[in-house]
Amino acid sequence: MSHAAITLRPALARDSHAIALMSRDHIEHGLAWKYDAPRIQRALARRDVALLVACDRGSLVGFAMMEFGDERAHLALMAVRPTHRRRGIGRHLLEWHLDTALTAGIESVHLELRAANDAARRFYRALGFGETILVPRYYGGAEAALRMVRVLRPPLGARPAWQPPAHWR
Ligand SMILES: CC(C)(COP(=O)(O)OP(=O)(O)OC[C@H]1O[C@@H](n2cnc3c(N)ncnc32)[C@H](O)[C@@H]1OP(=O)(O)O)[C@@H](O)C(=O)NCCC(=O)NCCS
Repeated sequence: MSHAAITLRPALARDSHAIALMSRDHIEHGLAWKYDAPRIQRALARRDVALLVACDRGSLVGFAMMEFGDERAHLALMAVRPTHRRRGIGRHLLEWHLDTALTAGIESVHLELRAANDAARRFYRALGFGETILVPRYYGGAEAALRMVRVLRPPLGARPAWQPPAHWR
């Protein structure tokens, strides 16, 4: 694989099946399969969801899905095919979402991952996320989740009232 062969683009309806299978095999393995193709298609139809895919000569090798609120965004899903890991694809996918969130004025990006997923934890740390809390039995009532956050900007808080320019007064 050469880096020049990797392209990023928004996901299309025809990507749903490949994304769902990657979610089942690389994210939800051993748990009930929640992100099946119909659920991915519903997510694609939402205006508050951005789903980005990475392709190697037309073949889908990674994806990242972010849900945007007013102040917070939630990274719901992301994976890169094992054959394509440690080549910066995950970083490019996530940085695209972080740049978009920053431009949209989002204050913080949140995510949770399986607490035993050390590779992902290291990946998110490398992308500037910090660990917040451990949620016992989050997955299927059995497995703990680790929550992580990346703060993009300070909260706005109370802003001073608008004042007319001095020459108007
Ligand atoms: C987590 C995941 C998306 C990372 O994707 P990736 O394309 O391999 O990541 P990158 O190559 O962009 O890595 C960026 C940096 O993250 C860190 N990192 C990534 N994978 C790592 C690992 N296995 N161990 C330690 N650090 C790692 C490194 O600092 C890396 O930089 P470097 O390669 O220059 O040292 C990928 O491992 C994956 O799909 N895992 C299975 C699914 C999953 O766990 N998803 C996340 C939870 S929902």
